[in-house]
Amino acid sequence: MSNTKLVAKLNGGLAWELRASALYSHYSAYVKGIHRIHLKAFFDEEASESNTHADMVRAAIVKLGGQAVTDRDPTEIVHTTDYKVMLEEALKTEQKAAKGYEAVLALIKDDEEMYDSIEQIYFQELRSVEEVTQLL
Ligand SMILES: [Fe+2]
Repeated sequence: MSNTKLVAKLNGGLAWELRASALYSHYSAYVKGIHRIHLKAFFDEEASESNTHADMVRAAIVKLGGQAVTDRDPTEIVHTTDYKVMLEEALKTEQKAAKGYEAVLALIKDDEEMYDSIEQIYFQELRSVEEVTQLL
């Protein structure tokens, strides 16, 4: 695979992280009622994790000599005050992220450093999928 195609895939991941960060920050602001006690902290943590992932993916793009995107993926962030809907949207977001990184991993086997970095993100996405599934 050419660097151009790999950069495009990584940029897809970066845009998805930027969207995830916006989604979690949005839900952190709007979650209400008794669930706010736990879920605000959870959403804040996930927003912060998404920003960390974005940094790592951006670093990989820079390493490849590519140009990193600055806009989030345009997929709608569903506005709601229903925590169940928030968690369902979070689950979809994490599942798609995990799938994307799984696909990237298959393409970067030759670069050990990059592989380790993306694999770390991938495992964290899987953990988030597990965590959100338990919350639902
Ligand atoms: Fe992520």
